[in-house]
Amino acid sequence: MIGRLNHVAIVVPDLAAAAATYRTTLGARVSAPLPLPEHGVTTVFVELDNTKIELLHPLGAASPIASFLERNPAGGMHHVCYEVADIRAARDRLAAAGARVLGDGEPRPGAHGKPVLFLHPKDFCGTLVEIEQV
Ligand code: CO
Repeated sequence: MIGRLNHVAIVVPDLAAAAATYRTTLGARVSAPLPLPEHGVTTVFVELDNTKIELLHPLGAASPIASFLERNPAGGMHHVCYEVADIRAARDRLAAAGARVLGDGEPRPGAHGKPVLFLHPKDFCGTLVEIEQV
């Protein structure tokens, strides 16, 4: 059911420092910071040949990643995002298999404007999983 790895999201305490690490130390193509106020994050996209890394930093008081950064002050991997062809069909299959879909189960536009859902980390080896319809 799942297709390509769309991105790995990493929460960082210092976006400029993290961008410099990826650009200079790792030699990657790195975007300018992009504020996404509707998602409560500022994102730097790291473009790799086969996937993306998204460096995330909290934006605003109600950021959904603020508590993650409090628990992981040095930053850390936040989620992986897998592509699916039909997100509602994927959701129904996952729910039937006993996986917990977070929120109300309705897909919402993600950071790329495409419909996404998040799946409970306890059902996926301790890793928060995002599925995105492409
Ligand atoms: Co994501």
